[in-house]
Amino acid sequence: MRVSEALRRRSSIRAFRPDPVDEALLRRVLATALESPSWANTQPYRLALAAGARCEALRRDLLEAAASGVPCGDHPLLFDYPEPLRSRRRAAGLGLYAALGIGREDTARREAQYRRNFAFFDAPAVAFLFAHEALGVYSVLDAGVFLQSLLLAAVEAGLGACAQASLASHPDVVRRHFDVPPGYRLLCGISLGYAADDPANGFRPVRATLDELLVGPAGEGRQVVARSGVDGRTQAAPAE
Ligand SMILES: Cc1cc2nc3c(=O)[nH]c(=O)nc-3n(C[C@H](O)[C@H](O)[C@H](O)COP(=O)(O)O)c2cc1C
Repeated sequence: MRVSEALRRRSSIRAFRPDPVDEALLRRVLATALESPSWANTQPYRLALAAGARCEALRRDLLEAAASGVPCGDHPLLFDYPEPLRSRRRAAGLGLYAALGIGREDTARREAQYRRNFAFFDAPAVAFLFAHEALGVYSVLDAGVFLQSLLLAAVEAGLGACAQASLASHPDVVRRHFDVPPGYRLLCGISLGYAADDPANGFRPVRATLDELLVGPAGEGRQVVARSGVDGRTQAAPAE
């Protein structure tokens, strides 16, 4: 399969068939992702993989933590989204709920759908991705590169996957199940398995255009509305 085809075919899978995934296949996908580049080849990430009984135990424990515990991730979550991130996030959420037939005001079903994250959308396997704190944002960048490699390798292997930052909300639960070395912070979980025939998997959020992506040359009608500060909070931009 060509890389461009894997990129086009990949999408977040939020409904899985219960069929288990052969462990050798899973390990092959992860080994393919090991080809990823990283800062000075430091490979500042670790992965915890669970299938079978451990996956079931994690599903149970994370569902319980999500129902009763206060989220407390290794990284703070952003709630104040600057534009255009806010609009894109909203459009993606509304689009997913519409595909699932969940009305805008139906808070109960929206919350139930959010809780499905912690059931790994019924996937038979889940992985947790950690980045070493030593390299700061570059560890996280490297882990992101690794994550995309993993997602594309999964497509090539006929597997579906969903990266889930929601699964980083209760790192204490994940650490109860794995011997995570010191210094590694949990970034996200990744549900893995075979995609079910389900409307959740048909949703394709739109992407920005190339023109929206590319930053124009300085001095040619630059329009800055807001920018993000180093602490992730939105700051008012100076008049330009
Ligand atoms: C780092 C990261 C975290 C994500 N966290 C979640 C999550 O917690 N729950 C979820 O349903 N999707 C999650 N997603 C999936 C995104 O919502 C999805 O990638 C985006 O809407 C684009 O859709 P697509 O993956 O189908 O192309 C996450 C994706 C990434 C890359």
